[in-house]
Amino acid sequence: MTQSTPAIRLDRATKVFPSADGGSFTAMREVTLDVAPGEFVTVVGPTGCGKSTTLSLISGLEPASGGHVSVAGTPVTSIPATVGYMFQQDATLPWRTVVDNVALGLRFRGVGKAEARSRANDWVQRVGLGGFEKYYPHQLSGGMRKRVAMAQTLITEPDILLMDEPFGALDVQTRELMQGELLRLWAGSRAAVVFVTHDLTEAIALADRVVVMTAAPATVKTIVPVTLPRPRDVDEIRLDPAFLALYRQVWDSLREEVEIARTKGASRG
Ligand SMILES: Nc1ncnc2c1ncn2[C@@H]1O[C@H](COP(=O)(O)OP(=O)(O)OP(=O)(O)O)[C@@H](O)[C@H]1O
Ligand SMILES: [Mg+2]
Repeated sequence: MTQSTPAIRLDRATKVFPSADGGSFTAMREVTLDVAPGEFVTVVGPTGCGKSTTLSLISGLEPASGGHVSVAGTPVTSIPATVGYMFQQDATLPWRTVVDNVALGLRFRGVGKAEARSRANDWVQRVGLGGFEKYYPHQLSGGMRKRVAMAQTLITEPDILLMDEPFGALDVQTRELMQGELLRLWAGSRAAVVFVTHDLTEAIALADRVVVMTAAPATVKTIVPVTLPRPRDVDEIRLDPAFLALYRQVWDSLREEVEIARTKGASRG
C-alpha cells in the first residue's frame, strides 16, 4: 500500500434494504469518503440515518447495493482480516476470564494457545487491567468491560478500527477516561479509525475530521477538520476557544438534520 492509497475508500456507496412492507428502504445514498492510513475520523448524524450501516459496509458484514467500498485499495468482498470492529454491545464471553477474552481475537486468527495467552497478558496490562486477569466479565464494572473489549480488538493490531458508539453506555467521567486511553493506544498503533458517536464533544476531541451525515438516507453533509494539536487532553480540550468554535460549526450542521429526522419521524408515526 503506498502512502496515497486510502485505508478506506467509500465511492458513492449506497445501501438499500428490503423493508417490512415488501418495498425497499435506502439507508445510505452515494456516500463518498476517503480515510487516510492513521487518520481518526468520527461520524455524527441523526439516529437511524445509516451510520452503523456505513460501518457494516466497510467491515464487509453487508455488501453495498451500489458504488464501491475498498480497504487498502482492495474491494471489500468479505470481512477483511485487517479490520477490527468494536460494537456498542459488549462482545465479552461471560464464561471466559479477562485474559482468555482478550486472547480470543488471536485464537480466531489461528494463533496458538500459549502465544495468544502471553500476548493477551501484555494487553491486559496495557489497558490498565493488571491484577484482573482471572476475573469474569460479571465481576467487572462497565468501564472495565470496555477496557477488555478494547484490548480484544487492538490485540490483533488492525490497520482499520471501526467503533460504533463504544462508550455510549458509560458515565461521563468513565467515558472521558476511556477516550484518553483510546487516544493513547491509537497513537501507538496509527490505525485508521472510523468512530461513530452521538456525543459532539467526543467527536471533536478525538478526531482529525468530523463527518456530519444527513438524515436518512445517509450521505456526507459536511466534513469539519479538527486541527487541534496532539497529544490531546480530553478533559482540557473542551475549554479551548478553538474547540468551542468547532462545536458550534458541527452542531449548526447537525441540528438541521436532527430537525429533518424528527419531522420525518413525526409524519411517519
Ligand atoms: N439489516 C437491515 N434490514 C433492514 N433495514 C435495516 C437493516 N439495518 C439497518 N436498517 C435500517 O437502515 C436505517 C439505518 O440504520 P443504522 O443502524 O445504520 O442507523 P444509525 O445511524 O446507526 O442509527 P443510531 O444512531 O440509532 O444507531 C434504519 O432505518 C434501519 O432500520
Ligand atoms: Mg447505529
